[in-house]
Amino acid sequence: MDYFIKTIISLLKGKIDLPEEEIKTLLEIPPDFKMGDYAFPCYGLAKTLKKSPNVIAGELAKDLHAGKPIEAVRAVGPYINFFVDKTTLSETVLKTISKERDGYGNKDVGKGKTVVVDFSSPNIAKHLAVHHLRSALIGNAICNSYKTLGYTCVGINHLGDWGTQFGQLIVAYKKWGSENAHHTYTVTDLNNLYVKFHQEAEKDPGLEDEARAWFKKLESGDPGAKELWQYFKDISLQEFQKIYDMLGIHFDAFVGESFYNTMVEDTITRIKEKGLSRVSEQALIVDLEPYNMPPCLLRKKDDTTLYATRDIAAAEYRKKTYDFDRMIYVVGSEQKLHFNQFFKVLELMGHNWADRCVHVDFGLMKFKDGKMSTRKGKVVLLEDLLIEAVGRIRKIIEQKNPSLENKEAVASDVGIGAVIFADLCTKRSKDVVFDWDEVLNFEGETGPYVQYTHARLCSILRKYGKPVTAEIRFELLKEDETFILIKNLGQFPSIILKAAEFYEPSLICNYLIDVCGNLNRFYNAHRVLSDDEELTKARIFLVDATRQVIKNGLKILGIHAPEQM
Ligand code: ARG
Repeated sequence: MDYFIKTIISLLKGKIDLPEEEIKTLLEIPPDFKMGDYAFPCYGLAKTLKKSPNVIAGELAKDLHAGKPIEAVRAVGPYINFFVDKTTLSETVLKTISKERDGYGNKDVGKGKTVVVDFSSPNIAKHLAVHHLRSALIGNAICNSYKTLGYTCVGINHLGDWGTQFGQLIVAYKKWGSENAHHTYTVTDLNNLYVKFHQEAEKDPGLEDEARAWFKKLESGDPGAKELWQYFKDISLQEFQKIYDMLGIHFDAFVGESFYNTMVEDTITRIKEKGLSRVSEQALIVDLEPYNMPPCLLRKKDDTTLYATRDIAAAEYRKKTYDFDRMIYVVGSEQKLHFNQFFKVLELMGHNWADRCVHVDFGLMKFKDGKMSTRKGKVVLLEDLLIEAVGRIRKIIEQKNPSLENKEAVASDVGIGAVIFADLCTKRSKDVVFDWDEVLNFEGETGPYVQYTHARLCSILRKYGKPVTAEIRFELLKEDETFILIKNLGQFPSIILKAAEFYEPSLICNYLIDVCGNLNRFYNAHRVLSDDEELTKARIFLVDATRQVIKNGLKILGIHAPEQM
């Protein structure tokens, strides 16, 4: 695609006084392909040329001479519209896909650059909650987008494994949990101990003091406290890992808040030396009033440190360790203030990389039938959600295609894929409403629909049964439906670029839905396998390219593309 843009830029360059980069950003793709393949708006030139945009467009269009690969140049209102040579475009797009295969979309823009993505990051001794799932899925897709662009991407799970709550848990465990030494503890048991602690603490406030004392012991390295804490952590990690395995999500590091415990003192010292902090009501704070924010709390009056303190230390450590170009925190919108505060502290500390830290927030996930939520209506057991999705798809396969090979693997790919797609296809800042009937519908804008389209393409290729070759007559791919599909396939690299730039995997979901729609329109209008050998070869080449693009797109989202379903 860049090839055409380059040609258009070189055509325009001699005629208008704008730098290449600006021409490139101004170029648009007209909504209706009949209006042209690219359009250049002339509004911006009106002021300097002292003419109306329509007049400028008319004059320039007359002055620009088409020539391969630009077939025609026409003025439409204030726009200059460019029509590219269809055969050249088809050949460029399809040959690129067939050459780059699984790597199609890789623009090498990120070569030599590193991106750190902090995602999922659940709290130990509690269940992985829905917002940790959303963060896991969005973060994974963002990581994959950057990887596709050639960046080195470091995915970090910043476990919530430190804080006063572990003092509470130790007290609860010692009082009510440790009697039965042979009981194997689960996260549910640990969760129940928290609940019990809070119930009892209402009657006996002394328990809170005990808890604080235990956390202090933990922070100063008391072996007994540490041993229990490690036990709680191991139980939790086991459960989290099970869910990450189901989702196929991998982290380069599980480095929780506790890891920074030894570094916070040094961080606080430097903040103090810079004169940024002061004591307020016995706590150590950074005053952020000049920036219209509440103070950032660094140390409580009992000397223990906080979430924000550890985040500041973690950011410094990661900069030193990975020398990142950008650091992305995928965390729900309810923590907006926290990130604004600690990013500000990083800036005030003089870190010129503070503006390369980004909080990528997202909305809530709600359930249409309240069934999946627990009594409090908040925490959903994600493992159950995924198992249910797979079970429902298994039933559908049993009804529709009982003789399918690898039924279990396909049910799992499609069930899990459906949940992932449903989560990612809404713009991330919006709330997601999870409705089983919609999520699993093979005909809606869903994961199963995209996977099914992919499987159908695989089945056409199996039926064809011969090797796919690029030795084809590209001029045969000329009908409207065919050309629209090819152009759409050519947009894939720029969609990934945009998805990475805006941290917005939904753009990839929408793109895949478009491709499937265009494919279906092509498929309904034209027979792929016919007696015309040359035409069949050309259409098969297009089918194979479409299959490849759908597979690559799904892979970025973290979804498998089974070849049969
Ligand atoms: N554990 C936190 C929570 O569940 C999320 C941590 C996000 N990452 C970070 N570096 N603060 O709310």
